[in-house]
Amino acid sequence: MLKLIKTEDGSHTLHSEQFGVTYHSIYGAMQETQTVFLDAGLYHKGQQNPKLSILEIGFGTGLNAFMTYLNAKEKGYNIAYTGIEAYPVEGELVRQLNYPEILNAEGEEAVFYKMHEKRNEWIQLNETFKFIQEVTTFQELEKNNLYDIVYYDAFAPNAQPELWDQVILEKMYNALKPEGVLVTYCAKGSFKRALKALGFQVEALPGPKNKREMTRATKTLLSTEPTISTQEDSPLLEQ
Ligand SMILES: C[S@@+](CC[C@H](N)C(=O)[O-])C[C@H]1O[C@@H](n2cnc3c(N)ncnc32)[C@H](O)[C@@H]1O
Repeated sequence: MLKLIKTEDGSHTLHSEQFGVTYHSIYGAMQETQTVFLDAGLYHKGQQNPKLSILEIGFGTGLNAFMTYLNAKEKGYNIAYTGIEAYPVEGELVRQLNYPEILNAEGEEAVFYKMHEKRNEWIQLNETFKFIQEVTTFQELEKNNLYDIVYYDAFAPNAQPELWDQVILEKMYNALKPEGVLVTYCAKGSFKRALKALGFQVEALPGPKNKREMTRATKTLLSTEPTISTQEDSPLLEQ
């Protein structure tokens, strides 16, 4: 059962009875997405190369994806976006989410709904933004050297501890291109130690409202790994 909730900045989120948590910070869903995923991830990499491939763990309400779409359009970025989700939010509830309205993007409502409706199929949302919602579990992911950014937005460690250990984080390391970054709201010590053990360079950045820190982890190559040019565009952008 999913319940619609309004967070402090007026944007909606969902509460999951199954996992006992909300999909975003109750102090502001929109401001959390802005700080954690756009400021620390999208803009950080976008200033190096405006062609970006993004992997989102998990797609959920689509707020991160929709805000990425709107901001990429404004900044002229070219994006291939993959949202992973095992339990897609159904249409009736999607239509109650106030994101197009609160983001002053009523003209883009159709894009937001399309992200939810099409599954397991690439769609071109405009000339420079392609998108796929892959319905699968994080545990099943086998992606290699494809992404510039991972938005790591799994439920918190107290709700799903298995999603914050080395086994699953190694999948994220493999999915990223060299110099790719993983960004997340989580700043837990054991999580940061697991990232370091995998070869990530870990930064603590100021978090969104009511959260002192968040994490950005950059994939650095271990000396035993072959060197691959970091300037190459992801093959996902070429398909
Ligand atoms: C914190 S919410 C994601 C919020 C989302 N980024 C947004 O903007 O709404 C975590 C998501 O992970 C999904 N999820 C939980 N366990 C999963 C698993 N093992 N595999 C795939 N998706 C999972 C949940 O259904 C939920 O949508």
